[in-house]
Amino acid sequence: MCGIIGYVGSENSVPIIVDGLKKLEYRGYDSAGIAVYGDEGFGVIKKKGRLTELEAVLNKNPFTSHMGIGHTRWATHGEPSDINSHPHLGSRNKIAIVHNGIIENYKELKERLERKGVTFASQTDSEVIAQLAELYYNGDIIDTVIKVSAHLEGSYALGIMCLDDPDNLIAVKKDNPLIVGISEHGNFIASDVPAILSHTNKVYYLSDNEITVLRKGGVEFFNSDKEPISKTLETINWSLDSAEKGGYQHFMLKEIMEQPKVLRDTLSSALLSGENKNIIDSIDISKFNKIAITACGSAYNAGVVSKYVFERLCRFSSIEVELASEFRYKDAVIDENTLVILISQSGETADTIAALRESKARGSVTLAIVNVVGSTIAKEADYTIFTAAGPEIAVATTKAFSTQLALLYVLAVKFGCKLGKIPPDMESSLIAELNTIPEKISAIFEHVDYIQKYASACISYKNIFFIGRNIDYAIALEGSLKLKEISYTHSEAYAGGELKHGPISLVEENTLVVTLSSCGRLFSKIFSNAEQVISRGAKVLFVGNACEVETSDKVSLIKLPGIHELFSPSLSVVVLQLFSYYVAANKGLDIDKPRNLAKSVTVE
Ligand code: G6P
Repeated sequence: MCGIIGYVGSENSVPIIVDGLKKLEYRGYDSAGIAVYGDEGFGVIKKKGRLTELEAVLNKNPFTSHMGIGHTRWATHGEPSDINSHPHLGSRNKIAIVHNGIIENYKELKERLERKGVTFASQTDSEVIAQLAELYYNGDIIDTVIKVSAHLEGSYALGIMCLDDPDNLIAVKKDNPLIVGISEHGNFIASDVPAILSHTNKVYYLSDNEITVLRKGGVEFFNSDKEPISKTLETINWSLDSAEKGGYQHFMLKEIMEQPKVLRDTLSSALLSGENKNIIDSIDISKFNKIAITACGSAYNAGVVSKYVFERLCRFSSIEVELASEFRYKDAVIDENTLVILISQSGETADTIAALRESKARGSVTLAIVNVVGSTIAKEADYTIFTAAGPEIAVATTKAFSTQLALLYVLAVKFGCKLGKIPPDMESSLIAELNTIPEKISAIFEHVDYIQKYASACISYKNIFFIGRNIDYAIALEGSLKLKEISYTHSEAYAGGELKHGPISLVEENTLVVTLSSCGRLFSKIFSNAEQVISRGAKVLFVGNACEVETSDKVSLIKLPGIHELFSPSLSVVVLQLFSYYVAANKGLDIDKPRNLAKSVTVE
C-alpha cells in the first residue's frame, strides 16, 4: 500500500510530484508528503488527510527544486498524522526517504538505533530506514543503500535523497513495485505507471535488490554488489486518457463503462493472436491432476465463478479455490501435478505473491492472470497471461474483474477441449457466446437510468442481501463485496439454499434481497427462496435472464440479455457494479477512495 514518486530533472519537481501523487492516491490516502532538495537543506511538507490538504499548504508555501520525492500513505505502523507521514528524515536531516512496504524488524532496529542515541520523531517503521542510512552514511550513498538494505527485513520500495548529493536520486526495492521512467526533461521513480504517464511511457521495471541512480541526464542500475547492470527499456502502451477521468464523475463509473472495450481486447488477445493465446495454447492441461485457484478480494470472487466453469467444461476431478491469505498457510496439498492459477489485478498483492512462491516451492506449475505488466506476480509466475483492462484507478475493481473472468472462461473452454470434454462444434459455439459479452454489456448500459433510479431508492437500507444458486451464487459474492466496499451498506451473499439455515432470521421489513437468477434450471428454486423472504416483509430485486416474474411494489426486475448460463456472471456483475456505484453516489460518498481501503494490498 502507499505510493511513492520521485523526480530529478530540469523542471520544478513540486508540481510533477503532486500530480504523480494524485495518480497514486488509490494506493493509500490517509496522508501525503513531499521533500525537495534545497541548498540550505530539504524542504519538507507533510499533511494528514487527503492530498488536497498537502496541496493547500504547498500553495501557501510555494517552493521549487530540480529534485524531490513524494508519498501518499496507507498507515500500517503509527496512526495517520502529519508526523507519521512520509518523507522521513534522519535526525541530522542529511537523508530523506519515502517508503512503500513494511519493515518487519523495525522494532529491533529502532532499539539498536536508540541505544546509539538516535531520537525518533515518528511511530513509523519507515523512519528506521532514514535513521539507519544516516548512521551508515560514509560519503557514498550507494554503499549506504546497500548496507541499509542488508539490515532490512520485510518489503520496501524506497526513494532516497542525500543532502551531500544534489544531482542524484536513488531508489531500491524488494517485494514492492518500483518503476523508473525516463524523459527528455528528467527522470522518475514511481510505484506505478499512471503517476508518470503524462511525462513518459518509457520505463524500466526495477527487480528485487536492484539499485538505481537517477540524475537529470541519465539512469544507472547496480546489483547489490554495486556492479553495474543493464536493463531493458520498455514502452507502455496505456494512453494518457486511460489514466484520466475523461468527463466521468468518478473513475469507477468510467471503468465500468470501459468494460465492453477492454473485454473485446482481452478476448481477442486470448482467442485470436498474441502472447496470451500462445501461452494458453501451450499449456498441456492433461499432465495435471489438480487445479488450485487462489487470489484475494474480487479476484478471489472471479476464481469462485471460474470453479463452476472449470467443473462444468473440464469435468476435472480436483478443482479448488482458496483465498490466498489462507492458501499460503494451509499446508496446501499441491505438487508438481498441480496447476496453480493466481489472479491479481495489481500483481503485487502480498498474500497472492506468497501463495505463488509457496506453490513454486512445492513444485507446482503456476499460471498468473495479471493486469499490471512488470509486476512481481507477472514476473515470477511460470506462465502469465495479461488482462487488457488498462490502468484501473478506482479502488473497487470493475473492469479488471471482468477481464479476469474473460480469461478464466477462455482457459476453461480451451482446457475442456484439450481434455476431450468439449467437442469442436461446442467449442465454437462457446467462443461465439463469449464474444457476445461486450455487446450485451453495452445493451445493459441502456438501462443505466433505471438502475440509477432504483439504487437511489435503496440508500436507507441497513442490510442488503444477495442470493443465488450455483454460478449465480458465485457472482452474488462479488455484488455484495462491491456494495459494502463503496457504499458502506452492510451486505452478505448467501447460496439460496442456505437461507433457511440462519440468514433468514435477519430478514425483516425493509430488507432488500437482490436475487441473481440466470441459472434457468434452478429458477424455480431461487424463486421459492425469494418468495420466502417476500412473505417476511423483504423487497426483492431480481437480476438475471432466466426470470419471468411479475413486478410489484415488493418485486423489481432487471432483465439481462440471454447468454450461456456459465458466462452470465459477466452480465450480472455489470448491473451489480452500477447498483453499488449509484447507491454510493446517492449517499455522496468518495467512491474512488472508500474509507480504510487501498487498491493494492501489499501488506498482510
Ligand atoms: C483490494 C482491492 C480489490 C482487489 C483486491 C485484490 O482489496 O480493493 O479490488 O480485488 O485488493 O487485488 P489484486 O490486485 O490482487 O487483484
